[in-house]
Amino acid sequence: MKLTVVGGGSTYTPELVDGIARHAGEVAVSEIVLVDPDESRLAVVGPFCQRMLAAADHPAVVRTTTDLEHGAAEATAVLLQLRVGGQDARRADETFPLACGCVGQETTGAGGLAKALRTVPVVLDIADRVRRVAGDNVWLVNFTNPVGIVTRALLSAGHQAVGLCNVAIGFRRWFAELLGVAPENVFPEHVGLNHLSWERGVLIKGPNAVADVLPALLTERADELGARVGLPGALLRRLGAVPSYYLRYFYAHDEVVAEQRTSPPRADTVSDVERQLMAIYSDPGMSSKPELLSQRGGAHYSDAAVELVSSLVNGGGGIQAVNVRNGRTLPFLPEDAVIEVPSTVDTGGAVPATVRPLPPVMSGLVAHVTAYEFLALEAATLGGRERVTDALLAHPLVGQHDLAERLTDELLARNADFLPWA
Ligand code: G6P
Ligand code: MN
Ligand code: MN
Repeated sequence: MKLTVVGGGSTYTPELVDGIARHAGEVAVSEIVLVDPDESRLAVVGPFCQRMLAAADHPAVVRTTTDLEHGAAEATAVLLQLRVGGQDARRADETFPLACGCVGQETTGAGGLAKALRTVPVVLDIADRVRRVAGDNVWLVNFTNPVGIVTRALLSAGHQAVGLCNVAIGFRRWFAELLGVAPENVFPEHVGLNHLSWERGVLIKGPNAVADVLPALLTERADELGARVGLPGALLRRLGAVPSYYLRYFYAHDEVVAEQRTSPPRADTVSDVERQLMAIYSDPGMSSKPELLSQRGGAHYSDAAVELVSSLVNGGGGIQAVNVRNGRTLPFLPEDAVIEVPSTVDTGGAVPATVRPLPPVMSGLVAHVTAYEFLALEAATLGGRERVTDALLAHPLVGQHDLAERLTDELLARNADFLPWA
């Protein structure tokens, strides 16, 4: 099959190719096309990926192109992993909210809204063009952040899309390590929205039964679990769940803001890692995924991506936490909201599993952020200053009218080049 990667010049692409090579038996990829507007990145990342495949004795051919239609024609699946405005725009997202006392983060709060506004129109345009050349049956696998909002945009526009993030697979692997069991036998009860999720249970499949070991973990090792996500063990016990580290931006908002005031933005650290990665990829003697890549946040996303593409293309009904249309899964949300929950994935797409009713401490926040995401999507597709302010007013980390106005000014000033209506 032909797999097209939009944003293929990303330094993350070798992570994906590593997954394709390791799972050669699960998904038969014959052609990987990297599409990117940046030819200089393609010229480095493309040949490096080809060397990785050759070193692994994988038969796939890697091609690179700046032409989306050419790259996506007849693709079976198209992975979307782009970053509109690159690390420079990310730096702005991570810094402008700080001046207003708000968390500076690329997917959460006002920074996440800025990213959504820049990204949704670009991704929708790409998806339309892909569908024209690859047909209605092409699978869009969306890693583009903010994944929840972008996936909702794609589904609302009628595309066959599934949204993916590595937070859930990260927990699965970590719980497996902690408990000394194989990741295949660990099923975290992951629930919420993208970058707003909790692990409410950890089911371990044994020879005769399935047992939830989370209550025992929370009794015995809560501090260790909390340390991983930067939150106190006592909070995890109170919640009866392990929040993802993105929930630290909510549960420890002011603490994070204080830290961010005295440390460089993540964009700077990542730019530095990217420069080093590109130098390694350029070395004709290099043909394996460098250790340095593990310093990026997207560790193990290749495993999740390959598993997802394999289920979408070959069937098999694997259970995987992905971003899907809510339907009636979380009954307090609109049916067309996008949630992140374990789902059965088959050639027909992803179907969310049944979810235990959420307690108010979770459902309240999920409903609040879902309303924000709806308004963010309206602002991204329709434009207009008022819509931006409305989305910020609806965000649990903003809320106050004067703050929403100030953040709107800052956001629009920094993103004028990307927003034709601003
Ligand atoms: C995690 C998140 C991704 C995000 C990444 C950032 O993997 O799930 O959505 O893009 O972190 O990693 P970075 O290395 O760019 O900070
Ligand atoms: Mn073209
Ligand atoms: Mn993510």
